[in-house]
Amino acid sequence: MREFIITIDGPAGSGKTTVAKALAKKLNLDLLESGAFYRYLTLRLLQSDIMDSQFSSDEIFRKKIEEFLSEIEIKISPEGTVLIYQGRPINNELRSKEVEEKVSEISSHPVVREEVNKFMRRLIEGKRVITEGRDMGSCVFPQADLKFFLTADLEERARRRAKDVIDRGLEEVKKNLLERDKRDSEREIAPLKVPESAIVIDTTNLNFDQVVERLEMFIKRAYER
Ligand code: DC
Repeated sequence: MREFIITIDGPAGSGKTTVAKALAKKLNLDLLESGAFYRYLTLRLLQSDIMDSQFSSDEIFRKKIEEFLSEIEIKISPEGTVLIYQGRPINNELRSKEVEEKVSEISSHPVVREEVNKFMRRLIEGKRVITEGRDMGSCVFPQADLKFFLTADLEERARRRAKDVIDRGLEEVKKNLLERDKRDSEREIAPLKVPESAIVIDTTNLNFDQVVERLEMFIKRAYER
């Protein structure tokens, strides 16, 4: 079967995850949530002693990252990406405050990005997928059949995020988003940016159904060509 890839990139709170989920179900495509791998590696690094002696040698670090990645089982389906570690799903742990605070820093490391990219490319070989993240269309899958980039203004993104995270006020969420946006967009490797030939959709004044409809319209149009 021919590989088929739709990429959706954008900053946190732009709606890409919920939209990608809805589209994956509607179109029966497997959903690859790339942030989960960076979150998983952040969690494992936080739990290990490598944080202290951090990045002392790229080769030792790479071995560790490879080892961590070899220890998870992944299930991708139209329902999403489930990471199974030591026999149980760990997706909830990947959303902890500790992970949120550290994940941008970890994901900016070139070794981490190289290994995650290799891992994801292997994972979806020959599959029909929707992938969502920060650099899916620009770096990881430049050959994608269709690329989207979702944006929304900061206030709106913070409001959306604040609903998802318990124990945190709007101002704290906004501050966290701003810092992350800055780091994700300014990093040297694979910064968050609009991929070439991507369709950009500003979701600030659109509700969820309207965003999904809009993407579907573009997907249908691409097929009619
Ligand atoms: O999409 P998310 O919130 O689960 O992503 C978590 C972090 O991982 C985010 O701060 C940036 C990083 N990330 C990345 O650098 N590249 C991706 N393709 C996906 C996520």
